[in-house]
Amino acid sequence: MQPSMSLNYAASLSKYPDKGVLGKEELIDSATKVEEKVALLAEAIRRAQKIVFITGAGISTSSGIPDFRGPNGVWTLEEKGLQPTINVDFDLAKPSFTHFALNSILKSGKSCYVISQNVDNLHLKSGFPRERLSELHGNIFTERCLSCGREYLRGVPTKTIGLKKTGRLCTTLKSNNRPCRGKLVDSVLDWEDSLPWDELAESEYQCSMADLCLILGTSLQIQPVGNMPFKTKRHGGEIIIVNLQKTRMDQHADLVIHEKCDKVFRLLCSELKIKVEEGIANLPCSNELRVIKEAYRSDPPPIVKYKVKRIKVCTEDDIQSVNIKTKNADSDKNGSTIKTTNIALKLE
Ligand SMILES: NC(=O)c1ccc[n+]([C@@H]2O[C@H](COP(=O)([O-])OP(=O)(O)OC[C@H]3O[C@@H](n4cnc5c(N)ncnc54)[C@H](O)[C@@H]3O)[C@@H](O)[C@H]2O)c1
Ligand SMILES: [Zn+2]
Repeated sequence: MQPSMSLNYAASLSKYPDKGVLGKEELIDSATKVEEKVALLAEAIRRAQKIVFITGAGISTSSGIPDFRGPNGVWTLEEKGLQPTINVDFDLAKPSFTHFALNSILKSGKSCYVISQNVDNLHLKSGFPRERLSELHGNIFTERCLSCGREYLRGVPTKTIGLKKTGRLCTTLKSNNRPCRGKLVDSVLDWEDSLPWDELAESEYQCSMADLCLILGTSLQIQPVGNMPFKTKRHGGEIIIVNLQKTRMDQHADLVIHEKCDKVFRLLCSELKIKVEEGIANLPCSNELRVIKEAYRSDPPPIVKYKVKRIKVCTEDDIQSVNIKTKNADSDKNGSTIKTTNIALKLE
């Protein structure tokens, strides 16, 4: 199934037993409360030197793309044998007021960074610059070169998800004037795929540096994004949430607004006297491929996958003797030396 529509995207993901908490009640604060809270949000934005916005499916529901875990979300309804009544083609979806507002806040001179879990391309469609954006779960319109890491934006959605080869090659010229020819893959993560390491590192850095982490339209149930606001808090910054459902981060937040994002941003931008431009960015048409992110600045870090699963405290009888082989960090010239350590533990 091609993930060109939001419902098909959900159906393209492989089966996964635990989809999180589904269908919690959505809340709306009274109009007076929303006004008071938006005034506080405006003050926090004025105070902040650096702002990180963490966005989720909730900022795109007004664009016609259903979320997953809201009362009308794809998975909430699926449990009841139903399907959402809204299901816009990713090609046709237009950015929401909130997408445009984020771009206008950036243009007003605020230092902003967006960390998005969405794959719908609406941040780029609203004109938000790629270099101020991390798309941690990918983008249905982008392809990445396995060799140099360059990212290409296309006018049509990719036919697959799960980092599969698209059959196209990287055409960018290297310094020797020859094309890279690395294989291009789609960028949308399936369950348990690794997040793009460069985007992840930048997101963590931006969260640590931010005075304000503003969370918009996400249930924060997916990791590692769900814990990123703690980085802001640990470095002395504030957390503010705009979401309809309660989240596990609410108790750590300085302010929680239960109202639709678009409503909050209309009030907020009027309070901040920021005019929101709603023009769609000039993006590639059909099969045109355009480089939107340059090659990796450094080599990818080695993937460390060394895990001993849950170790229990155990009795003498349970103990087995195990040899654990580890790579020695001080490897010799011929490569790494293998060190064998004998330890006693109980493996489940
Ligand atoms: N648009 C998209 O690209 C899209 C759509 C569905 C799911 N996803 C995927 O879902 C996963 C992440 O989950 P998530 O937390 O983003 O989604 P989620 O479905 O878990 O949570 C969405 C949250 O947004 C809230 N919400 C819905 N409409 C809102 C509105 N107008 N204003 C304020 N809040 C609103 C809901 O109450 C809910 O708590 C990601 O992996 C993402 O790739 C993406
Ligand atoms: Zn390349």
